Amino acid sequence: MSLVSPLLFKTALDVAIPSGNTAMLVWLLVGMVVTPVVQAGLNSLQEYGRASIGEAVANELRRKLFIRVIQAPLPDLERVTSGQIIHRITRECGRVGEVFVGQEVVPLFSNMALVLGTFVVMVLLNWQLGFIAMVVFPPSFLLSGYVGRIARDLDSSLIAHLEKGQEYLQELFANIKTVRAFNAVEVELSRWDDWLEKHRRHKAHDIVYHNLSRVLFSDVINNLVLGMVFGYGALQVMNGDMTTGDLIAFISYLPRAYAALRLVLNTHVESEKIKAAVQAIDQLISLPQETQWFGALPARSDKSPAIEFRNVSFRYRKDGFHIDGVSFTVEWGEFLGIVGPSGAGKSTIFDLLLGFYVPASGSIMVGGVDIRLLSLVELRKQFAFIPQDHHIWRNSLAFNLAYPHGDVDPQLLRRAVRDAQLEDLVAALPHDLATELGERGANLSGGECQRIAIARALVRQAPILLMDEATASLDALTELRLRKALQAAAEGRTLLVIAHRLATVMDADKILVLQAGRVVEYGSPAELLRRQGLFYEMYQAQKLKEAKA
Ligand SMILES: Nc1ncnc2c1ncn2[C@@H]1O[C@H](COP(=O)(O)OP(=O)(O)OP(=O)(O)O)[C@@H](O)[C@H]1O
Ligand SMILES: [Mg+2]
Repeated sequence: MSLVSPLLFKTALDVAIPSGNTAMLVWLLVGMVVTPVVQAGLNSLQEYGRASIGEAVANELRRKLFIRVIQAPLPDLERVTSGQIIHRITRECGRVGEVFVGQEVVPLFSNMALVLGTFVVMVLLNWQLGFIAMVVFPPSFLLSGYVGRIARDLDSSLIAHLEKGQEYLQELFANIKTVRAFNAVEVELSRWDDWLEKHRRHKAHDIVYHNLSRVLFSDVINNLVLGMVFGYGALQVMNGDMTTGDLIAFISYLPRAYAALRLVLNTHVESEKIKAAVQAIDQLISLPQETQWFGALPARSDKSPAIEFRNVSFRYRKDGFHIDGVSFTVEWGEFLGIVGPSGAGKSTIFDLLLGFYVPASGSIMVGGVDIRLLSLVELRKQFAFIPQDHHIWRNSLAFNLAYPHGDVDPQLLRRAVRDAQLEDLVAALPHDLATELGERGANLSGGECQRIAIARALVRQAPILLMDEATASLDALTELRLRKALQAAAEGRTLLVIAHRLATVMDADKILVLQAGRVVEYGSPAELLRRQGLFYEMYQAQKLKEAKA
């Protein structure tokens, strides 16, 4: 459509006007009015199409990233920050899909067609002028490639900077109480100002390079060529080798051709630049996936123990903390307490049991089957896990209890609330189970968060319950409630409880005492007290503390 109107002009000037054909002139005028209307209609269709394609690409990327990240093995996931993940899923995927594909790649085809079409028409009109107009092609292509590569490097540092900002804000608001209590508002503000200043500089560079190719091309080269074409064309008209209509048509094609060419070149710049975003996305998409083990747990035989660690060794990373030769057995229905100093490796035992990390040697058996022979889904079905911290979603209490399933029998929720000693809390809530809880349990006490997590585990109805007690010390009443909740949980279940308060596990059948990644004692609480080892020492220390209190 863009190619049509100059031709209408040319025909009016060269044919209709000289021959005095008014009827023809009127038709040509009608054509000149109708063409842009049709063009506008087609344009809207094109816009719609490219927006849909761009959006589809962005969403497909976002989906892929989400799947990859949510299933990446923890050691790999620990190497990327949450700021990187969030920034890439939200912004970079959008830039690749909506901006690059939608606004650059899809229109590239019509822009290239326009460039080609215009130059073909120009060459047909007058081949010498056509070729003069084309001298800009090679230098501008080289230029756009060069600018694009510089823009790409700038862009990758801009991405890194934005990700740091994201990370910073998340951390800041997660620790808002610390910030205020330490009177750090000023300090944080100056940190944020630093970030903003760096961002301003990044952006300024980015924009300068981005515009460089455009300015150089449109203002400098464009006008130069326009002058050459016009001069040469005027000479030809004077010599009678060319009509005025041809020259006018030619001159009016030129800006259109260059506008389209500029868009093509811009796509060239952007395609270099977007590589930074693509690399960032690719880094996450190429994360490995958790090993999907195979096989299925056979019907639970009561003959095999529920859990068995056989000489298990593991380390998080080279030269890091390691556990060595850990062995223990938990029969179905038993209650095992795990205790030991902070950093002894207690939580690590659960990490291994849940398949978050893979032991370096030894084997872990669940229901008599090596967990490496189970699928991860099958393995994790055996457990209800209560992690050490952060286990509240910003959603209703009912959602938190039923997680991840929405359609849990309300009777079951009520029972879990009762068993987890949460009835007082629920009675005090304004909207009962539908009450919204704050982010990370912001409007709950530590003990309440813990009992909500226990209730959630009770709702899950898995045969083995793993509880990693929060380090927060509990008052006597809360502790009593916790013990009652655990007693309720123990009914018909196998229980593994990591405890900091020894009182929590005094009812346990057996206790595993860990120190620096090794089992130092293993037996019933009474046996361990008689033995007067580490457990006895810890017990005495806690009793002493209580006596003082
Ligand atoms: N993801 C990890 N990467 C590297 N090292 C880790 C990781 N998680 C824990 N560690 C290290 O492993 C050691 C044992 O950690 P673990 O969480 O098992 O201790 P814990 O006995 O549960 O301590 P606490 O009583 O304080 O909860 C610690 O020294 C810790 O620094
Ligand atoms: Mg721990």
